[in-house]
Amino acid sequence: MTTEEAKIKIEYLTAELHRHNHLYYVKSQPEISDFEFDKMLKELQVLEDKFPELGSPNSPTKRVGGEITKSFETVFHRFPMMSLANSYSREEIMEFETRIHKLINSRLEYVCELKYDGVAISIHYKNGIFNRAVTRGDGEKGDDITQNVKTIRSIPLKLRGDFPDDFEIRGEIFMPRGSFEKLNREKIEAGEAVLANPRNTTSGTLKMQDSSVVAKRGLDSFLYSLAGENLPSDTHYETMMKAMEWGFKIPDPEKNYIAKFKSIDGIFTFIDYWEKHRFQLPFDIDGVVIKVNSYSQQEQLGVTSKSPRWAIAYKYKAEQGITILEKITFQVGRTGAITPVANLKPVLLAGTVVKRASLYNADQIEKLDLYENDTVFVEKGGEIIPKITGVDKLKRLPGSLKINFILNCPECGSPLLRSEEEANHYCVNENGCPTQIKGKISHFASRKAMDIDNLGEETVDLLYTSGLIKNVADIYHLEKEKILNLDRMAERSALNLLKGIEDSKIVPFERVLFALGIRHVGETVAKKLANYFKNFDALMEANETQLTEVGEIGEIIAKSVAGYFRNEQNKILINRLKSAGLQLELSEDKLKNVTDKLKGYSFVVSGVFANFSRDELKNKIEQNGGKCVGSVSGKTSFLLAGEGMGPEKKKKAENLGVKIIGEEEFVKLIG
Ligand code: IVH
Repeated sequence: MTTEEAKIKIEYLTAELHRHNHLYYVKSQPEISDFEFDKMLKELQVLEDKFPELGSPNSPTKRVGGEITKSFETVFHRFPMMSLANSYSREEIMEFETRIHKLINSRLEYVCELKYDGVAISIHYKNGIFNRAVTRGDGEKGDDITQNVKTIRSIPLKLRGDFPDDFEIRGEIFMPRGSFEKLNREKIEAGEAVLANPRNTTSGTLKMQDSSVVAKRGLDSFLYSLAGENLPSDTHYETMMKAMEWGFKIPDPEKNYIAKFKSIDGIFTFIDYWEKHRFQLPFDIDGVVIKVNSYSQQEQLGVTSKSPRWAIAYKYKAEQGITILEKITFQVGRTGAITPVANLKPVLLAGTVVKRASLYNADQIEKLDLYENDTVFVEKGGEIIPKITGVDKLKRLPGSLKINFILNCPECGSPLLRSEEEANHYCVNENGCPTQIKGKISHFASRKAMDIDNLGEETVDLLYTSGLIKNVADIYHLEKEKILNLDRMAERSALNLLKGIEDSKIVPFERVLFALGIRHVGETVAKKLANYFKNFDALMEANETQLTEVGEIGEIIAKSVAGYFRNEQNKILINRLKSAGLQLELSEDKLKNVTDKLKGYSFVVSGVFANFSRDELKNKIEQNGGKCVGSVSGKTSFLLAGEGMGPEKKKKAENLGVKIIGEEEFVKLIG
């Protein structure tokens, strides 16, 4: 294919992918299947890799992330990002309306919107192209989180239609409840503490250094205001509808996410409607926002030092209930993490009967200052599990005892431990605590791990209680006759189970590593460790410093992994898995491309290259044992420089004496 032909094809695929992305993520009206979409995306990626000079920073391929931001640059907002005055009662809304009427004596129109519970963002578009995304920060200046925001599929990288040349659009980035629950399921799988709520998770996600992780987290957006010159209309509502035509995800009037009213009655109808229906939304809101529609009236009303006079937020009270704390139970997870749960006298809250509430950890119990049989306030916000928000101390019964965190594991009696950097207490009897053992075996057999058919939680329980398995290695020594002796185990079930076990022996190394359930080793970390160390022996010998040599493996993970392999029982377990025939090294295919040549060297890759894409180069560095980092520092070994590399990076490398090499030299390095 000639460059000219490639250019035409790339332009076609880019336009089509932008269009289908918009149909899927903004309009929820896909025209093609996910498979067809992925096929086109791959085709574009291949062409961009082959003709890097034709790639663009706003190509649909950028949605998958990959850019690393080491530190987020502080950027001043062109127009300050103000906050909203809050109100909690109808009276305050009436006062707001009266205030406005006093200042404006012409006809007024209000726009009501949902108050999204996420993170505010301002995105700058120049000539219809996504240029920069900045957080609200202190309202005057925020952090440049461009690379992370580019991965959010509902935010267009290129606009269509008749848009102004230069403007900022503002809105909220949030994590839909579905994405949040999925993420927490993954956290549980990796034996990590669960995240408290979608809002904090959104904010944490947007500040992650690796945009490819952000890309996988399912963030979404609603945009709710425009700032700039030459706006298309002189009212807020109509401007937003125009912005919808340019490709933005704007609150949908058909779903009643946004509505116009001429009277205060309309405003109250909107408030009442969402007070009742807000829990049916797929995302969290914490109120509604009321805005004056006309821009000239907005200007007339002006702003105070913190917020505009033309808008107000009405915040819903979280549904609160009062009940009695009956007792606290402590659950043991498969990694030994102890989770306290409050058992409550059943109380009706937001339409459901609540019997339990999460307490997270010892600090939370201490903060609430809980006593036995306390009268407690329970709230149900967006989160599925309600939480205790306070105690009515006046109702505390005389002589009742303060609740202390337990000192021993409720399942096996072993002493609990809490290290400085962790919020949770852990049962340290990793290989002797029945609940942990059963949890670990179930995780080992689960779909994303060894995927052993017919070995679900119930079967694990049966096999463990009857003494047939005590750890994951025992699974591979199960005998048909012994299984048949168990209750509920017919010949067919036993044979199916044994077949499932046999089939699992071909599961690749990285999944075996994930299956072990080492704390903080989820699927991604397991993959990184497997690619770097290539086999279990090398991984088991690595100390903490060597483990942190692997890209994105920090001290906490390194400590957990090294600790796991220091344990003699774990070493025996791995040896038994080895003799059972599990895959404890990378497959031939993967090994072919892997060497140690770059071990101990770190690289910054910057610019556009003639023969490889940046991602290809990064993969090659990692496959050859090197480490990729985002910015140049004294510790960087090489700056791998391509066309159009940022001058700042070059200057920094020169000042620090970091060697700058081109792709030819790099190819020589790896032979
Ligand atoms: S308008 C000048 N509209 O609420 C006011 N804000 O305290 C600009 N928010 O930081 C904001 N939903 O993050 C507006 N429909 C909505 C909103 C909304 C949520 C957030 C926003 C802002 C905070 C204001």
